[in-house]
Amino acid sequence: MQRPLLAVSRAMTELLEATARLAPLETTILVTGETGVGKERIAKLLHQGSRRREGAFVAVNCGAIAESLLESDLFGHVRGAFTGAATERIGLFEAARGGTLFLDEVGDVSPSMQLKLLRVLQERTVRRVGETRERAIDVRILAATHRDLAVCVANGSFRRDLFYRLQVIELRVPPLRDRPDDILPLARALVLDAALRFDRAISDLSKEAGERLLSHPWPGNVRELENAIERAVALARGGRIEVGDLPLDSTSALSIPPEAPETLAAVERAHILAVLARNEGHRERTATQLGIGSATLYRKLKAYGAA
Ligand SMILES: Nc1ncnc2c1ncn2[C@@H]1O[C@H](COP(=O)(O)OP(=O)(O)OP(=O)(O)O)[C@@H](O)[C@H]1O
Ligand SMILES: [Mg+2]
Repeated sequence: MQRPLLAVSRAMTELLEATARLAPLETTILVTGETGVGKERIAKLLHQGSRRREGAFVAVNCGAIAESLLESDLFGHVRGAFTGAATERIGLFEAARGGTLFLDEVGDVSPSMQLKLLRVLQERTVRRVGETRERAIDVRILAATHRDLAVCVANGSFRRDLFYRLQVIELRVPPLRDRPDDILPLARALVLDAALRFDRAISDLSKEAGERLLSHPWPGNVRELENAIERAVALARGGRIEVGDLPLDSTSALSIPPEAPETLAAVERAHILAVLARNEGHRERTATQLGIGSATLYRKLKAYGAA
């Protein structure tokens, strides 16, 4: 059983309302947001609120699969279509019939794959690799990306026509640091969850631990929070999580604890890494925002062991 999706902040409650409204529609929806914000959970809610809820929810991580494999995974192939294709195989577009196909990290697919996806979205048919016959598909297509696809379109790495097809409606999941009202309720729910799983009598966080969580920038969002809490629950000695149990890298927080003056170099490092995280690792943009050259940024990251 998955923990229920928690939403306390206004941004998140509005997003869940929009998700519920949009779920029954058959439209393609693009879910965007930084890594770990909950894009896949939102996509599942869209599926569960649709008339396809009895059908499969099939997620494909388009960014993690080599192009040739992705093609046969999605479209299927006939026997002998390529070396190793010993048997005929149906693709996920066909396998998800009656359900939802979730194209995760769609911003990472190659130009030739973008063209193939565009064709499927336009024609609503697929051709198995090695075959000329068109087969109709019956799936709702949802997609997600951590990238800003409008920027990718502007710099030529993503097709404009595919962008418009995918982004009929966009649901943007805000980063955790932009919805601080969610942090402590999420953290408490995660503490109880981990305590139960690890069979530990821990039920709360200290005030300082809570403050620490609120000041962390959470570049890895809810997933990072989950991991931090899980480790804290595993490590905690007392009946609640203390600030010392939180294995957060203090240099990635922007706030400077008054009792511990830091060197200028440490502050610079923390600031650079925080801005880099905010830009999802995008170095050019980070360098521009910091007002330094990208070679300088690279040199500094290398010195921090982060390049
Ligand atoms: N609002 C929330 N309430 C409870 N748990 C959440 C919430 N949002 C995200 N999570 C949890 O955080 C983790 C990451 O969520 P999910 O996989 O949906 O994010 P994602 O945006 O798809 O991440 P990635 O970019 O890494 O693929 C999951 O374990 C999910 O259950
Ligand atoms: Mg995901």
